[in-house]
Amino acid sequence: MKKTIVIGISSGIAAYKIIGLLRRLQGKFDISVIMTDHARSMISPMEFKKIPGVSVFCELFPKDFDYKKILKKKRVNHIALADQADLVVIAPATANIIAKIAHGLADDLLTTTILATKAPLLICPSMNTHMWENPIVQQNLNTLESSGMHILHPDSGELACGYTGVGRLADCNKIIREIHQIIAIKKSLSGKKIMITAGGTYESIDPVRVITNRGSGKMGIALATECVKRCAEVMLIRSKNSNVVQHQAKEILFETVEDLSEIIRMKITNYDVIFHTAAVSDFKPLKKFSSKIDSKKMLTLDFIPTDKIISKIKIWNPKVLLVGFKAVFHKTDSEMINIGKDLLHETKSDYIVVNDIGQDGIGFGADNNEIILISCKDSIVKIDKTSKQNVAVRILEAMFHI
Ligand SMILES: Cc1cc2nc3c(=O)[nH]c(=O)nc-3n(C[C@H](O)[C@H](O)[C@H](O)COP(=O)(O)O)c2cc1C
Repeated sequence: MKKTIVIGISSGIAAYKIIGLLRRLQGKFDISVIMTDHARSMISPMEFKKIPGVSVFCELFPKDFDYKKILKKKRVNHIALADQADLVVIAPATANIIAKIAHGLADDLLTTTILATKAPLLICPSMNTHMWENPIVQQNLNTLESSGMHILHPDSGELACGYTGVGRLADCNKIIREIHQIIAIKKSLSGKKIMITAGGTYESIDPVRVITNRGSGKMGIALATECVKRCAEVMLIRSKNSNVVQHQAKEILFETVEDLSEIIRMKITNYDVIFHTAAVSDFKPLKKFSSKIDSKKMLTLDFIPTDKIISKIKIWNPKVLLVGFKAVFHKTDSEMINIGKDLLHETKSDYIVVNDIGQDGIGFGADNNEIILISCKDSIVKIDKTSKQNVAVRILEAMFHI
């Protein structure tokens, strides 16, 4: 059966290029086009209607709108369009529509459909170089990316406004390649139930102070986002302290090692895979003070070791595919591999991901990572420094061959 693509056209000057795109997609997909009001001022909807098999929609409230018809037929246009879509492509995506999506606005047919769809979204921005470089636009794009949307960056070259620089709508071939890729990966983890722990634990010393670590949760959230994109059922077990980045996974929050351990113990039998990225405190204070400790006196605290959660996971669920994460400090690749292999045996993990937090710009709190993935079947994959989102993609590709 043909897949359905909804193509949203906003009022970038590159809107006319979508005629060529549609001609190449026509016949291979069922296609609905939604135009913004401003896009209709840029180019007539007739240009798209002329293409066989392409339906064009523009208004949230058409002229013949009658609420009685809606109640009788139980059919609302934007919900039907959102539900039909296997993929929604916004091309060209103006700075304006990017901002509206980032902030959840729904003031026309296109943005309302976008909010209502469960389909993956491919955003193809195109705009003047200065608009593209504007930090607000970039921040909005980051929001879309961390919500799991696919961003196809614009090309560089001559722009309609007379500038030369980044901002041209990505070449048609690139858009088509991306469409095929997203449709192919869409269901690659469908049916898998995946638990992901993320962020650092923290333990109270007194009602004010805590002992914690630098785990930010970014690696776990990146994995959760990529697993959701591939249609897995994902449960993120996230530290209350972690960076709150937008994601589409269900989540449970934890504070202490005991909380985290208890949540995993209770839930793990329902899951096929666990990515245990959480940074678990190795120690907790022997005693928790019930009132605020006086800061004028010197203080000595005793710490006791905490439970090694990772060693218990296979006891709680022997069938779960366990992926442990290990942070090391200033180690060579071969030392990292040896540490990983030891931990595989010790914890009965299926995979261990080792990263060296001693290196600048990767690991705790950073947006990038560099890792070595070691499997219990002796395969070793090194992923050189790249964004945590890319690391997440590469880990999933290596593990599930997708
Ligand atoms: C001739 C012309 C070309 C434009 N090209 C772009 C563009 O390439 N990218 C962009 O973000 N905005 C562009 N704009 C500005 C948008 O049309 C404007 O921000 C509009 O409000 C966006 O509305 P929409 O996102 O609902 O379509 C252009 C405007 C004009 C008049």
